[in-house]
Amino acid sequence: MIVTIDGPAGAGKSSISRRLAEELGFEFLDTGAMYRAIALLGLRAEIDWADGDRLVEFAKSASIDLSGRAVILDGEDVSHEIRSQQVTQATRYAAGNVGVREELVRLQREFAEGKDIVTEGRDQGTLVFPHAECKVFLTASPEERARRRVRDLASRGETVALEDILQQQTKRDEEDSQREVGPLLKAEDAVEVMTDGMTEAEVLLKLVGIVQRYQHA
Ligand code: C5P
Repeated sequence: MIVTIDGPAGAGKSSISRRLAEELGFEFLDTGAMYRAIALLGLRAEIDWADGDRLVEFAKSASIDLSGRAVILDGEDVSHEIRSQQVTQATRYAAGNVGVREELVRLQREFAEGKDIVTEGRDQGTLVFPHAECKVFLTASPEERARRRVRDLASRGETVALEDILQQQTKRDEEDSQREVGPLLKAEDAVEVMTDGMTEAEVLLKLVGIVQRYQHA
């Protein structure tokens, strides 16, 4: 069974989706981590971002292992580094690159082959797994999402102003929704869950209920 969880940045998708996968005994795929990993390779190589082909080469040659809790890029644990502000901002170059998307979508489908998985991103229910059995669109208001991101960064030792995050988030939302390839979209058959005012435990419970409905359908 394939469960897709799509939604905007900061809706709490990552941790909820991982916990949902654990709860169901499914594998978990964090597709944002893949785009982040490619951006990190670009940053490290100090590439000219206008040179999209270099990024496609990275996407084709990189080894990204997402099978465990950590994100392993070419043998190195980059779980922490890919969440930095610098990588977050550079990720748009990877996300907006058609060739990179093609390659990562191929890897995502390969990863899911024959498995029960929860996969999380922007285009999972629409483009990557249009036939997924259960699709969720997870959202929260912009203010709530920005507050969560500030808390998240603080727990990693990065201090940032709420207004700055809100501004970056609005820009990222626009880029994510207006992208020509793999834009953020709610699939027609996705269940929308608005998480404002809900605790993580409450959201998890709700998602488990939704999946069970489809499992028994
Ligand atoms: O979800 P996360 O914040 O880690 O994603 C980082 C970026 O990767 C997003 O802003 C989005 O642009 C991109 N992304 C994407 N398609 C996905 C997952 C993430 O374009 N399936």
